[in-house]
Amino acid sequence: MLGRLNHVAIAVPDLEAARSTYAATLGAAVSPVEDQPDHGVRTVFVELPNTKIELLGVLGDASPIRGFLDKNPAGGIHHLCYEVADIRAARDRLVAAGLRVLGDGEPKIGAHGRPVLFLHPKDVCGTLTELEEA
Ligand code: CO
Repeated sequence: MLGRLNHVAIAVPDLEAARSTYAATLGAAVSPVEDQPDHGVRTVFVELPNTKIELLGVLGDASPIRGFLDKNPAGGIHHLCYEVADIRAARDRLVAAGLRVLGDGEPKIGAHGRPVLFLHPKDVCGTLTELEEA
């Protein structure tokens, strides 16, 4: 069921500084900073030959990464995203296996314009896991 690793998301306290670390220090191709008001984050995408890194900064008071940054003030790995061919079929299979889908259980349009779901970290090896329909 699982396809490619679509991205690793890293939450950071200072998005511009993180962008500069990846662009100037690590020598990666990075996107401009983009606000994602529907998701309460600002993003920078780091393009690697085999996957992407998604740098996440806080946008607004209700940002879903604020609590994570309170616990991890230097930033850290926030979630992994795997591609699936059919997100509703994947969800139904995982829910039947006892996994919890966050929110109302319906796919939402994610930062890449594709339907996404998040699985409860306690149900997936302690790691917040995103599924994206490829
Ligand atoms: Co993501």
